[in-house]
Amino acid sequence: MINVGSRANRINWKKKYKQLQQKNQELKESFRIKCIESFKTRRSVRQVLDVKPDFKLIENIIEAGTSAPCAGDVQNYKIIVIEDELKRKKIGEFSYHQFWINKAPYILVILREDKELKKKYPDNGELYSMQNVAVVIQNIMMAIHMSKLATCWIAVKNDDGIREMLEVPDEYHIDAVIPVGYPNEVPFLEKRAETMALIDFKTFGNKMR
Ligand SMILES: Cc1cc2nc3c(=O)[nH]c(=O)nc-3n(C[C@H](O)[C@H](O)[C@H](O)COP(=O)(O)O)c2cc1C
Repeated sequence: MINVGSRANRINWKKKYKQLQQKNQELKESFRIKCIESFKTRRSVRQVLDVKPDFKLIENIIEAGTSAPCAGDVQNYKIIVIEDELKRKKIGEFSYHQFWINKAPYILVILREDKELKKKYPDNGELYSMQNVAVVIQNIMMAIHMSKLATCWIAVKNDDGIREMLEVPDEYHIDAVIPVGYPNEVPFLEKRAETMALIDFKTFGNKMR
């Protein structure tokens, strides 16, 4: 029979516990680094496979989007999920004729409503409203990227065409179209501006820390 209470056993368990804690810490650290790397490696992907991800994945991605901070604690947006092939084609047409997006099995149409924020903040409501939606879109795009899916922010040209087809009420702006699918290309990691070139200290244009 094992005597769990023996001194030697207790030391052994303590050592094992410490090792596990250290491993856990290492895992957390590598996860943190991976998360930051994900932000740095996100790029627009414009070629997707004709394979449909499970809707649960899409719902989870949208939930990551709607977890974004929001001015005034107001969630002034709606997201319409489009799966229908004909509608996807039409959305491509209404978005500067970017027909490639109809290959994506899901298209998310992002709508913004300004009224509540304009009422709450008469001076800056519209700006806050747009900012609320922009962070939702960025969260969605990052969640798509971290789920190993592909996307690209698509600008809308023919607002009226989409409005009519999707029966969007007048009080909503159609801000963006987000196609989602599995990637069919490895995007080129276009270089960004040097980070330090975009940072100033204390006053505008001052590079001395
Ligand atoms: C507001 C906004 C509108 C955009 N509209 C389009 C678009 O209509 N079509 C497109 O292919 N890419 C569009 N993009 C993606 C940009 O072209 C892309 O993010 C930029 O070239 C940087 O490349 P990256 O996303 O690979 O880092 C848009 C991005 C933003 C933020």
